[in-house]
Parts: sequence; structure tokens; C-alpha cells
Amino acid sequence: MSAAKAAYALGLPRVHLRTTSSTNDRARELALAGAPHGTLVTAAAQTAGRGRGGRSWSAPAGSSLLASLVLRSPPRLLPLIAPLAVADTAGPDARIKWPNDVVLIDGDELRKLAGILIEGRPQDGWAVMGIGLNVAVALAELPAELRAVAATLGLPRSKIEPLLARLLGALSLRLAQPPNETLAAWRARDALRGRRVAWPAGSGRAEGIDGDGRLVVARDEGGRATLDAGEVHLAGA
Ligand code: BTN
Repeated sequence: MSAAKAAYALGLPRVHLRTTSSTNDRARELALAGAPHGTLVTAAAQTAGRGRGGRSWSAPAGSSLLASLVLRSPPRLLPLIAPLAVADTAGPDARIKWPNDVVLIDGDELRKLAGILIEGRPQDGWAVMGIGLNVAVALAELPAELRAVAATLGLPRSKIEPLLARLLGALSLRLAQPPNETLAAWRARDALRGRRVAWPAGSGRAEGIDGDGRLVVARDEGGRATLDAGEVHLAGA
């Protein structure tokens, strides 16, 4: 499928809202009401944007790409495919911090450019994939605690809509890829490989992901840990 044709496969129907609590909530309602694969909800602003682990997602009004897609029969590797498509859209410098943050590398720091929240009902064969991408965010407008860890593409607001079209095209292509290509492309963008990481139960050096997208870590005390989900953070040398 050509990139142009693939772009039409996702994003219709589309609901655009000036303000909503969370595009994921709207997309979830639509999914439960039977909305088809590819249904898209976008918003200029969210009053209760949600992130992973019960955190909130903050974005100054009108400056981010805020989008949620309904996906029917989502593939097993969706948690890898989603950040990969966002990284394709953001450009060659974008990297992925396991499990699915899209980051830019700034010295030793990983600055978060985009976050992805996948929710859904696997047993009912659907997922909602929510994406927040800092397209035109002025970092100075973010809360102080985010300013130090966030990144922005620094583009004009007029680029949000073209980037959405690019994202939908990238996602269509990535969804059609065989798993081995997804894994190889993800590994080429891996921001953690070789870095020291810590998680609630241990610490070690990230070695990459296995065939199911789990993070493999060489533990400081010897042996390997394979992490399914949850959080890791960069640890000191
Ligand atoms: C994370 O990094 O914790 C995930 C952040 C996901 C934010 C996006 S913004 C669009 C969609 N609506 C939400 O409420 N959350 C996701």
C-alpha cells in the first residue's frame, strides 16, 4: 500500500473537539458504541489528559497533537508499533524509551517528546491508542517539573495537522509490517540499550527488548531480568 493510500485507512470517521476531558475517554465511548477501526478523536485541549501509571498529561492549549484512535483487532506488538510510528513522524533523531515514550537525547538526558497511552478491552478485540506529541509546545509554558524533562519539536501550530496526517500514514504502514521488521525498527530507535536503569525491584544495564517487547536487563548482582511492563528510570553510572 502506498503511504498516501495508507493514510486514508486510519482517521475516519474523525471527531475534533476544541476541549475535552481526555481524547482517550471520548474514543473509548465511541469504541463501546461500535465505532469502526480507525475512528479518530482529536482535541486542541484536554482538561484531564491522562498518562500511564495514573499520571496526568499536561499540554498547553492548541500546541500539541492530542489524538486517540480506535483500533479493532490490535496486533500483539501494538505497544512497540505505536511509538515507532510516532518516532517516524517526529524525525530521525527521535528515540524510544521503553516501553513507549518517544524522546530526544540531550547529552545524558532523555527528554520526552511524546507519550502514548494504550487502553482497551483485549477480550473484546479493541484498543484505544492515545498520543500526545509536543509539536509547538513552548517549554516555558509547561509546569516547572515538566520543563526540565520535556522536549518539543518547536514547530508552528500550523504544523499540527500535517503531522497528524503523517502520523496516520506512518501508523498504517507500521501496522502492516511483519513482527520481525517492527522489532528491528524499534531496536534501531532504542534509547535505553546500554544505559543503566533502575526499577522498583532492582537495577542493571538495559540490553534491549525480546521478541515480545519485554525489556531485558543485565542485573547488577548478576543474571538477567525480563520486565513486562511498568516503569524504569535511568540510574547513575
Ligand atoms: C504517558 O506518557 O504517560 C502517556 C501520555 C498519553 C497522553 C495522550 S494525549 C491524548 C490521549 N488522551 C489522554 O488523556 N492521554 C493520551
